[in-house]
Amino acid sequence: MPTPTTPVTFTRQGLIGLLCIDNPPVNALSPATVAALIEGFAAFEAAADLQALVIHCAGRTFVAGGDITAFELPDFSAAPYNALLGRIEASSRPVVAALHGTVLGGGLELALACHWRVAQPGTKLGFPEVKLGILPGSLGTQRGPRLAGAAVALDLISTGRMISARAALDAGLVDEITDGAPLEAGIAAAHMRIASGHAPRRASELTAALPAGDADGGAAFFAKALADAERKPRYPALAAIVRCVQAAVTLPFAQGEAVEAREFEALRTSATSKAMRHLFFAEREAGKIPGLAKGTPLRAIKRVGILGAGTMGGGIAMNFANAGFATVLFETSETALQLGLGLVRKNYEASAAKGRLSSAQVEQRMGLLSGSLDDAVLSDCDLVIEAVFENLELKKQVCARLGAIAKPGAIIATNTSTLDVDVLAQATGRAADVVGMHFFSPANVMRLLEVVRGRDTAPDVLATVMKLATTIGKVAVVSGVCYGFIGNRMAEVYMREAEFLILEGADPRQVDHAVEALGMAMGPGRMLDMAGVDVGAKTVIEYGKTGGLPPDASYRALVQKLFALGRFGQKTGAGYYRYEGRNPVPDAELTAIAVALAAEHGINRRAAADISNDEIVERLLYPLINEGIRILEEGIAYRPGDIDIVWVAGYGFPDHRGGPMWMADQIGLAHVAARLAHYAATRGNTYGYWTAAPLLTALAAEGSKLANWKAPR
Ligand code: 3HC
Ligand code: NAI
Repeated sequence: MPTPTTPVTFTRQGLIGLLCIDNPPVNALSPATVAALIEGFAAFEAAADLQALVIHCAGRTFVAGGDITAFELPDFSAAPYNALLGRIEASSRPVVAALHGTVLGGGLELALACHWRVAQPGTKLGFPEVKLGILPGSLGTQRGPRLAGAAVALDLISTGRMISARAALDAGLVDEITDGAPLEAGIAAAHMRIASGHAPRRASELTAALPAGDADGGAAFFAKALADAERKPRYPALAAIVRCVQAAVTLPFAQGEAVEAREFEALRTSATSKAMRHLFFAEREAGKIPGLAKGTPLRAIKRVGILGAGTMGGGIAMNFANAGFATVLFETSETALQLGLGLVRKNYEASAAKGRLSSAQVEQRMGLLSGSLDDAVLSDCDLVIEAVFENLELKKQVCARLGAIAKPGAIIATNTSTLDVDVLAQATGRAADVVGMHFFSPANVMRLLEVVRGRDTAPDVLATVMKLATTIGKVAVVSGVCYGFIGNRMAEVYMREAEFLILEGADPRQVDHAVEALGMAMGPGRMLDMAGVDVGAKTVIEYGKTGGLPPDASYRALVQKLFALGRFGQKTGAGYYRYEGRNPVPDAELTAIAVALAAEHGINRRAAADISNDEIVERLLYPLINEGIRILEEGIAYRPGDIDIVWVAGYGFPDHRGGPMWMADQIGLAHVAARLAHYAATRGNTYGYWTAAPLLTALAAEGSKLANWKAPR
């Protein structure tokens, strides 16, 4: 789309002035757009004959927010825009906002400064700033509560959720919903405002309503909200939002404005927000694939077939049924099939019980799912995904069969976690049709999809799967072929050190708590107990068969021992922990196992108290970062940001730290390299566990950051 010469044009239609914002793709408020808007509004102010103004947008949406890239500029200031909004609101002639598309952040703040808001029925509105670690910084926290009431505004601003035009009308954020083109609706509304003769209604002059029944000026309401927000100290925006909304209720507008400006600026410059902004752009970058031409034609996908109705197959099927695809599950036994379909229904019914789905929706989704023991059903599918046991010989057989029966042009995907996608592709006899689609467990919940690009994967297959990922609500990251792809390969070194620490005397709780304190959703012990110790152990054992493991008898000895003892984690009531219901409790038996393994492998044990949280964090995360850098070096991942998305969307890595690669830059690569060298010296480096990746060594020596690194093309 060509960029217009000026992002804002001022024209007139009879007695109505028209300000049109045209800054594709989403009309974000770049500094140039704000400057042009200021100029355009001045033109309206100067045109004394005009009786009203309509502000509208060209393209697919009204303003979708401030320009997030501009937040990085050293001279960034929200003040000029905020002053403009003040002038718009102060106008004695009516100003109408004509809304369509996604009216977000600074766009909604513009709308709230206008005197009347008319929206198309499909318009979505919201304050997504909190997802970027900031808050609405252009008076959204002040005008929002004055129009919608404190409770509604606080909810919208704290959650960042979008609401429909209808809900916005009910909340008082929109005045009118009208079919037809936004501009025509805006002009009609402007005529109505003129004809009514009413003075413009200014949000800043209203009083923000408190929740019904409030008897103490909001003191208790805000005290509770603040206490809730402060329970999440890693997201400082949450408490700041409460303080701003409270200011809207208790202070005059100008003073509230000052509170918001101070809080916004502190958040904008915070490490948390920078990390979250990085992830916003990384997620969008991940969709851009080197060597894949824009506009690559897509294969049509209507019917999906899935092999295996186990843990993954059922979850994968739900993704497609949720998105309206006819989906068939193929199994080898009636029992397995019924078990799989039964579990899918149970999951849907649980969502219905929580009010997230209606019973009609449950039936509609189940209606899209069918099962079969005859693989002929797969022959008219446009996409078939195999999710059978993680066993190379079995998967090769399955792939050979799929190569023979899938219709010409069908895409054949494998959900393997670790196996060589190129070998499986060869087995089909039609390698160009093959791609890895690595879903994460639970597949209907986790947002990540690793798309594994094989040596021969056809461009249109890759492009189709990337698009499909968006359709089913996933964030897709492309990985090259290697053991474990991006995520599981990095997880391997993380688990290795977790296990060594336990053999050396750390308690599983201590290890988990150290990384949970950093923000990981779950430490390694709890994670493996939930995913299944058996699943983890089998992967290690299978990998060992390929000769991929280091020749170290103590390597991941713990997971293999737990597996041998039948301690599969939550499902058997014991793993790294013992379980009371779903509660993990420390287990003396685990300690005994660790003591015995340490003795067997000649590992010196220390008192748990002598193992610091810093050591745990460094030993778990620095090898993981190092492995990520190797993955970049080898071209398995295209960008550091891709790795960050994998870890945040697939492994519960804290978004407020921006992912492991972003975090490494914040720690300093030279420091990471120095600590690896420290552990190589103190723990020994017989198996190369602590050898820094050459790229890490080079970047550390230059004082560079991963964020500035570009893959050689
Ligand atoms: N600033 C800068 N660029 C933005 C942007 C923004 N606010 N919103 C979207 N973009 C860019 C994207 O990076 C992408 O660029 P690319 O094509 O070069 O990768 C392009 O616009 C299209 O975006 P999407 O791929 O996300 O398009 P979708 O159609 O899937 O989604 C959207 C559109 C719902 C608007 C989504 O882009 C979105 O949620 N954007 C962010 C909205 C937001 O957070 N707004 C608040 C900003 S902060 C603010 O307003 C502060 C104020 O209070 C002072
Ligand atoms: P599972 O054991 O729960 O399910 C496998 C299913 O495949 C069983 O129901 C079995 O009956 C069926 N099956 C076996 N042979 C078959 C055949 N020839 N045709 C059709 N169905 C057949 O296994 P799970 O955990 O679902 O794993 C499946 C795949 O997903 C594996 O490749 C695994 O590595 C991968 N994966 C697993 C994750 C997990 O956390 N469980 C995460 C991501 C990927």
